[in-house]
Amino acid sequence: MADSISLNLSKLFAAAAGANGLAEDDLGAEAAAAAFEAFELRRTTGEVGFADLGEREDLAAGCRETAALVRAEASDFLHLGIGGSALGPRAILRALSHPQRNLLPPAQRDGPRIFFVENVDPESLAAIRDVIDPSKTWINVVSKSGGTVETIGQWLVVRQWIEEAVGREKARERTILTTDPEKGLLRRMAREEGMRTLEVPPNVGGRFSALTPVGLLSAAVAGIDPSEILKGARSMTARCASGRVGDNPALHLAASLHALDVRKGRRTHVLMAYADALADTAEWYCQLWAESLGKRYESEGEQVFSGPTPVKAVGAVDQHSQLQLYLEGPQDKVIVFLGVRRLREELEVPSGDGLPPEIAYLGGHGIGEILDVERRATEEALLRNGRPSATILLEELTPRAIGALYQFWELTTAYAGELYGVNAYDQPAVELGKRIAQRVLSRSGGQGT
Ligand code: PA5
Repeated sequence: MADSISLNLSKLFAAAAGANGLAEDDLGAEAAAAAFEAFELRRTTGEVGFADLGEREDLAAGCRETAALVRAEASDFLHLGIGGSALGPRAILRALSHPQRNLLPPAQRDGPRIFFVENVDPESLAAIRDVIDPSKTWINVVSKSGGTVETIGQWLVVRQWIEEAVGREKARERTILTTDPEKGLLRRMAREEGMRTLEVPPNVGGRFSALTPVGLLSAAVAGIDPSEILKGARSMTARCASGRVGDNPALHLAASLHALDVRKGRRTHVLMAYADALADTAEWYCQLWAESLGKRYESEGEQVFSGPTPVKAVGAVDQHSQLQLYLEGPQDKVIVFLGVRRLREELEVPSGDGLPPEIAYLGGHGIGEILDVERRATEEALLRNGRPSATILLEELTPRAIGALYQFWELTTAYAGELYGVNAYDQPAVELGKRIAQRVLSRSGGQGT
């Protein structure tokens, strides 16, 4: 694959994985080509817009401009959102910034501290108030629909803190609303109150919005160039321009995972990241895969419940937690490894004299080298147990590679949606939950249930 990302699917196939692996025929070249065409139709008619975000340099420019205002004034920046409005942004920032960014002294940090406010848990929210300086805080309220109860609730609380510190007008100036350009409550309030806004394109849904201002603004606030992220996305879309599995890596992975589910009963799809920086990316993948593919539909009068179960794992940590199950538990899983060839740091284990012989062999090895060996050893152990796996390797953790990786998984999800025959872009069950919660809250009128 281009973009300094390589994809190795060989261990999914029978030649390596034995009877539990796929035969080439299992991929269904025709079905894959049809899935590609069906997605292309959605893309070229403008129904679905995420695959063309790499072309939207205007979105990157808007983020850079807004980020410059934030960086000039703020000591703290709060990103308020949930689901697709939080997972991608948090994951991109974690992948591309210093692991202890908020703890660095301002001179080394490059931009304000950044906090993601996701859940409506009062303890977490109150804890944010304990550590920020509301007189120097900017906020980004992110909601595609503009009406998600969790996000709006958080905003009203945070807005009050900031208004108490700097007054209504300054608080308004320091608020960014990232939402649909036309529809929804946030857009209406932005118009009525003349608030600063960034756009989530109408044809890009929540969990596919990481490469819009939803995910690009917090990156830009941290000094990461959003254009570089979009360049990676653009080159990945170009790499995936064919309906032949052999020429389209995302289609290849989608067809393989789909076939492993429906033909081999491998319904649990684990993304195991061998870099702490990619742990949140594995979480983001879980939402993308689950909410896009987990659907109920009718076929010949029968209810069909479809969708693989995604799981997040982090190596080497989860080798000491989940791996036993993956090696000897039910034959219903496929593991996709996500590794990085050159991490941004390497630390050598000192090989001092006098180490006990049992550990002396570690001397001179790198900590990152140990992590890499652990990944390869785990791949090998799975294979010896007849368990198929695939590997995605990034050369380095750069904005381009991350843009490409996110676009890759979004395309993989889109093709998988077509292969499963579901609409990957709606979430009727989630919407139902949202409506019920709203009804209960409006009935109980602030008195609790
Ligand atoms: O993918 C989705 O559409 C959802 O997960 C949404 O991102 C989530 O429900 C939040 O919605 P909104 O961005 O409208 O506040």
